[in-house]
Amino acid sequence: MMSESGGSTLEAYRARAESWKLPIGSALDRVLAGGVESGTITQIYGPPGVGKTNLCLLYTVSAVRHGKRAVFIDTEGGYSLERLMQIAGEDYERVLEMAYFYEASTFEEQCFIVENIEHVLREDFGLVVLDSAVSLYRLDRDDESVSELNRALSRQMAKLMAVARRFNLPVIITNQVYSAMNGSGAEPIAGDVLKYWSKAILEIKRRGEVRELVLRRHRSLPEGLSARFVITERGIADA
Ligand SMILES: Nc1ncnc2c1ncn2[C@@H]1O[C@H](COP(=O)(O)OP(=O)(O)OP(=O)(O)O)[C@@H](O)[C@H]1O
Ligand SMILES: [Mg+2]
Repeated sequence: MMSESGGSTLEAYRARAESWKLPIGSALDRVLAGGVESGTITQIYGPPGVGKTNLCLLYTVSAVRHGKRAVFIDTEGGYSLERLMQIAGEDYERVLEMAYFYEASTFEEQCFIVENIEHVLREDFGLVVLDSAVSLYRLDRDDESVSELNRALSRQMAKLMAVARRFNLPVIITNQVYSAMNGSGAEPIAGDVLKYWSKAILEIKRRGEVRELVLRRHRSLPEGLSARFVITERGIADA
């Protein structure tokens, strides 16, 4: 079975470090009782276009506004400077200075970036985003065996969990869901691997322009907590 590597050393670290939460200053913070938690991986999943990247950019801007550096790993080639500019507003230049944006265009590149992430991180980092964890995995699925890809994905998650603890920062990963071929509802990609490593799981749902963030897993909060929002020119607004 998968295990959280380096168990005892990392646990000792965690015991020493006080965990903290990164908010984005909206009703969505209430769903996580204050924000995304340091020292662990939070997964945001939902269908294409639902708002996952928007939330990741909001957390990145918020980290910078809290005086922290951030890493944003984009695997979709979809992260747009224009959208970042809209969300960051007058803090745009500071965000570009404080946040490190990396783009992976193959699953192999994604592995390389994640496996080497600790060479970038320092004390003053307050967030790591992997958006998304599985879009490239999905593209590679035709050439390689699923079990090999799952092992590589597990190694990435183990690394992210290790740096979350070592640097006491929140890690956010996103995961797309697609309608299953057989019509049995939406299915998260590589669901089991990501679920195993994500200690908090959030779903975004959409009805028209109104989106809803729903807590699906948390170790100390009730599942089902939720808040509605709309995406606006400057970011998001409560709905
Ligand atoms: N300036 C804006 N004003 C209003 N809505 C916007 C603005 N910019 C983007 N959006 C909306 O944001 C949504 C896309 O959100 P986002 O890119 O976060 O989705 P996603 O969940 O990351 O999708 P994917 O899985 O394809 O990456 C679209 O519905 C788009 O209309
Ligand atoms: Mg996206």
